[in-house]
Amino acid sequence: MRQIVAGNWKMNLGPTEATAFMGAFRPVIQAPGPRVALFPPALSLAAVQAGAEAVPGLELGVQNVHHEGSGAFTGEVSAPMAADAGATLVLVGHSERRHVFGETDADVARKCAAVVKAGLIPMICVGETLEERRGGRLKAVLSRQLDAVLDVLPRDREWILAYEPVWAIGTGETATPADASEAHAFLRGRMGESGRDDAADVPIIYGGSVKPGNAGELMAAPEVDGVLVGGASLDPEDFTAIVEAARR
Ligand code: PGA
Repeated sequence: MRQIVAGNWKMNLGPTEATAFMGAFRPVIQAPGPRVALFPPALSLAAVQAGAEAVPGLELGVQNVHHEGSGAFTGEVSAPMAADAGATLVLVGHSERRHVFGETDADVARKCAAVVKAGLIPMICVGETLEERRGGRLKAVLSRQLDAVLDVLPRDREWILAYEPVWAIGTGETATPADASEAHAFLRGRMGESGRDDAADVPIIYGGSVKPGNAGELMAAPEVDGVLVGGASLDPEDFTAIVEAARR
């Protein structure tokens, strides 16, 4: 499976900075190369799109959607709007959405259903907090978060899973390649036990303090099908180095 290198800009890089980023983001990719995706703030999507010709096949996404298609939900954007604006991907259940904005597993499942209905690909984030890991609850938490979305994901539709241990996000603490492999293998096994015949085809990517210096070894680890990069995706040189570190 081709690896995926995705950048989540979070609430950074408005349209002017996004234009400057795209002017400097020039990865050298030997075909077939990795899939490369960016999740800018929704207001910067058009600026990224306008500068995307230098990165053939660049996939675009939004960081969050409301589960309804339209309506009186001030401040929200919907999946059909994201599709209309040129996005093909949507991040769902990022740990900041879960832990800062209080999204529940049920919210995440509703959003996944809306994303699929709009013909977009959900990139669903799961991961444990440090307290949960230390308390021996890693597998229970990952199972709960995964099981909550499986029913709303049709088998014939593409979706992506991102394992992002909360303790490794924005902290400089990275899971070791072995930690990532173990969690990814567990998630894939759980999909299989749940009767998902698409278990082998779902890319499982790792996120949490991925940098140019550790991206290569993480992506070389068994079961790691790519990376989801926060902080280091804001710097075009760092993100270029991470894209170029992907081997398949
Ligand atoms: P980080 O963020 O790379 O800054 O740790 C990852 C993420 O939140 O997706």
